[in-house]
Parts: sequence; structure tokens; C-alpha cells
Amino acid sequence: MATCRVGFMANMVTSACPVQRERRLRERRVRLVPPRASTSSNNNGPANRFSMDRRDVLLGLGGAAAAASVLTPGGVILPAMANPVAPPDLSKCHIATQGAPPGEDKCCPPYSMAELPTKPVDYDFPRTPLRVRRPAHEVKEDPDYMKKYTEAVRKMKELPEKHPWNFYQQALVHCAYCNGAYDQVGYEGVGGVGGVALQMHYSWLFLPWHRYYLHFFERILGKLIDDDTFTLPYWNFDVKEGMKIPEIFTSDQNSPLYNEKRNLDHYNKILDYRYGYKNTSGSNASSDDELVQMNMSYLRSTIKNSLQLPELFMGDPLRAGEPDSNKGSGGLEAIHNGIHQFVGPTEAPHTDMGNFATAARDCVFYSLHANVDRLWHLYRNFRGNRVEFNEPDWLDATFIFYDENERIVQVKVKDSLTPTKLRYTYEEVPIPWMGSLRVQKTKETKRKQDLNLVRISDFGTKPRELGSTPLRVMVPRPKTNRKKKDKDEKVEVLQIQDIEVKSHGPARFDVFVAAPYGDLAGPDFGEFVGSFVKLPHKATKEGNNGVEKHKGKTSLKLGLTAVLEDIEAEDAEKLVVTILPSGGDVTIGGIQLKLVQADSPRLQ
Ligand code: C2O
Repeated sequence: MATCRVGFMANMVTSACPVQRERRLRERRVRLVPPRASTSSNNNGPANRFSMDRRDVLLGLGGAAAAASVLTPGGVILPAMANPVAPPDLSKCHIATQGAPPGEDKCCPPYSMAELPTKPVDYDFPRTPLRVRRPAHEVKEDPDYMKKYTEAVRKMKELPEKHPWNFYQQALVHCAYCNGAYDQVGYEGVGGVGGVALQMHYSWLFLPWHRYYLHFFERILGKLIDDDTFTLPYWNFDVKEGMKIPEIFTSDQNSPLYNEKRNLDHYNKILDYRYGYKNTSGSNASSDDELVQMNMSYLRSTIKNSLQLPELFMGDPLRAGEPDSNKGSGGLEAIHNGIHQFVGPTEAPHTDMGNFATAARDCVFYSLHANVDRLWHLYRNFRGNRVEFNEPDWLDATFIFYDENERIVQVKVKDSLTPTKLRYTYEEVPIPWMGSLRVQKTKETKRKQDLNLVRISDFGTKPRELGSTPLRVMVPRPKTNRKKKDKDEKVEVLQIQDIEVKSHGPARFDVFVAAPYGDLAGPDFGEFVGSFVKLPHKATKEGNNGVEKHKGKTSLKLGLTAVLEDIEAEDAEKLVVTILPSGGDVTIGGIQLKLVQADSPRLQ
């Protein structure tokens, strides 16, 4: 019998659910157009372009309780079982156990000590004026702003060492949450051994947690200079003018914004979204302009291919008690990881920016994350502000911060979804990458390759180690020639399973797909569809006797529905998947193509 549900399964409706079906038809009319942050003359805000559905409105008002119920066929509303990640128990903070380099593993905040009050209060959301974050390449022309910004950071760096607002204490907040200084409540080990670490990367917690982290950091800076309109500048790395490490961080070695531990070769160079330590120009562009186009194309396709299924963009669900192993980062996090590596030094342990334990000691960090945050905001707009994961396990996940009023506060994911609730927004700038940017291959190259076909075999049943040469395998598709309706309902996902990085250092590989000629393929890898990028991290936790408790495996998922249309491969029964390794000791367990139920209809 068909069931109409409300709540997070609401999109899995059948024809027996007239209301939802009607709504879905309405949503299908949505088109992918630049949202509010556009300067095009035809500037329709998202509210005009996208229909806001009632469910989103409820959520906007904090209606998680409504979302947490399930309507049974008999019309009875049952509460759903919820299992959101709980805030850390500050008093149990311990040495950081996940990838912090030696000497950098003491990350606990000063207020975790027993003599201080550690009971968090609910955060009192601000009612202050709306703050507008501006691009870093633009604020450099504004001496008044630059004076305030450098002054605020200087003051923050000069605070007493143990003050929770101190710049280096703020950086430790990132280390504590991201390098395993806390265990999940109820899943504690002893002194960092045997428990399940609380981890803010590699999952759906990544974007909301970093949004809050910046929010509090920004407001503390504002407080230090007594300016309640102060904002962090964002590194607008998605436009040509912003695609270098912002000058405000590189031009003056005596500025509080400067950091010495960086890759100096990358000053004044165009950022390569596919940079890897072993692969200094992953994109292999022939000119700066081409690199700019390739970066924008990468970003555009990451967004376009994940609009139907937020976990592809934001990261896998992670519930209380689950370790971050076997979870996958979203596409935005992968791009962001590459940028961390581009800024940080090439030598291990890649401190500061190339290592999460120390990354937030570089002011570039906050501007990088401000743009990551802005890209999430845009992604939401493209989806008509539809909630990404309409389930309490995400919405009620809770974090603790230290605010600008010197209180230990707790906040939930559901209150982070709209920046205006946190009283900030982003200045409107052009989004050139929204246009059609796919870098076209010339017919010439295509023809040449046909002469050099090679046989490609299946992945096989055993895990494969990535060496220095590309791994190319033939992967069967679940279905060919899918109709529009089918594509609206299900996303074709390429999943690379059981990725294991043996050394705990950084790792990277890039993924390409192409349509084969029977069992043969040309030397061209085809279309770039995404990357696996990892900073130094240790996901394997040891049990009490040094026994491995869970393996540090992870997975990578990439949406292909739109790509296959672009490369005209909808009729292919198999795809040639090419994995191009670029550093790290990586093993993968399998490669699969599957159809996954979309959370929302396709936006074109
Ligand atoms: Cu928590 Cu850019 O990292």
C-alpha cells in the first residue's frame, strides 16, 4: 500500500499523495539561475524565482518537531527516533588524537577546566544590525576597513594567553573539534583511546559547524574594536579577480594578518582547485585564463551535480555514536581541502593551513571558510531554500562555543540554516561560473584517440592499491537511456568505496568518466567529475590493547546525471572510470554506479 509521509521522507511520495505530488510538480518548474547575489540586470531574488514550500517555512521557524514526526497510513502521527550528535562534555576534553602533529595536540579550551563554570547556556541569537561580508580583494581598497580588521586581529593576538578570545585559543577550538580532543557523549574512551571522536569534517556537520565557528569569531573581533557591524572578508575564490591568495594576507609581513608558514611559491599565483602536493598543477591548464575557467567549471559542476542530493555537496549523514570513518565529505569540502593545501607549506606536517590542528592560526582560514559558507548559502538558494536534510539527526545536532559576551553557549544545526538569523549576509557580487562553462575538447583530440584504444577490465573483487599510474576500470551502469522523470527522481551516483589512506598524511586522487567503445577506451580520461582530498588525519582509533577498533575507511560519492548528458553517454551500458592518484598511500575497495533516490526534483 502506498504511504504518504510527512517529514524527511516527504519527497519519496507516490501518486497516492496528491498534495505532495502537486507540490513536486510545482518545484519541477524551478530553474538554475543566479540567486540574489547577482548583478545581472535581470536580478530576481530567490524569493521570486523559487517557490518557498510550507515545510521550509515551518523549519525556518524552528519547526523541527514537525519534521521529526511520521504520519502512518492510519493517519496517526508517531515521533521518529532521533539520534543527533550531542555537544561535547567539556570537562572530558583530552589530547587530540586525530592527526594533530607532535606538540600541537593540546587543544582543550581553558574553560574546560573544572574550576570554571562549564555549563553551557542556550545561545541568545543576536538582534544587532545585519552585517555584510565583503570580498577580500575588494576590502583591500578600503583603508578604514583594513585598519579596523588588522586592529581587531592584533588585539585578539595580544589578549592574555588563556583568554578564550585569544587568537590562538580560537584556533584551538578548531583543533579540538576537528582533531579528536572530544569524544562523543556516551561513546567515551579513556584519555582519547577507544572512544568515538567528535569530528566536524567528513560529514553533514561540516558546513553548519564552520558557519557557527566563524560567526562567533567574527563577533568577538567586532567586540574588540567596539564595532557591531564588523565582518570578516571572504576569499572570493570563485571569480577571476579573487582567485589568488588575497593580497591583504600576503603583502605585509609585519601585519597581524600575515602568517609565515605558507607555500611562498603560491603567492600571486592563480589558485588551482585541483592542486595536490604531488601534482602541483592538477588542472594542467595551459594558461591562467584556462585555469580560471577550469576552476569555475569544477565549482559549477559540483553544485549542479549535487542539487538533487545534498549529501553529495554537504557530506554524509553522521548520527550520534557514529565515527567519521566510512563517511564521505561533500564536494564543497573536497574543493576546500585542496585550497587548504594550496596555502600551506609542502613539507609535512603541513602546518599551518595544511593541517586542521593548526589551520585556524592563519587568518586566510577564516576568509576561505567565509566563501565556503557563502557557497553553501548559494547552493541553498539554488534549491529554493529547501532544507537539505529534513531530519532531527541533523537539525538537532548541537555544538558549544564561547561567545562575544563571554558565555559558553550551545547552538543547534537548525538555527544555522539562514545567515540572517545570525545577522550577517554576503555582498552581492557577480557569479560568472553559473553560465555554461564546460571546457570543450576539440574534435581533433577526440579523433586522435580513437586510434589508440586499449582494453579496460572490471575492478575485480579485491581492494586495489593506487600506484603512480592511473587506475582505469570499466563499471556497469544500473540503467541506460533514462527518461526525464526517472532522472528527476533518482540520481546516478558514482561511489568509490572503502577508501583507505594507509599513511596518516595527506592524500588526493581525481576522478574522470568516459563512455567506452565496447570494452575499449581511448587514452583520454574523459570528463573530470571530482576529487578525493584529505588533509593529515588519523581515523583509526586504537582499542584498549592497541587493537584496531574501526578502520579509517571513507567513501566518495559523485553525482553523474548531468555529466552523462553533457558527454552524451546516456546510452552507454558501462563507463570507463579513471582514478588519477596524486599522493598518499591509498587503497580503494570498489567502484560502483547506482541510482539513489533524489531528495528533490532536478533543477535545470
Ligand atoms: Cu575545519 Cu577548512 O577546516
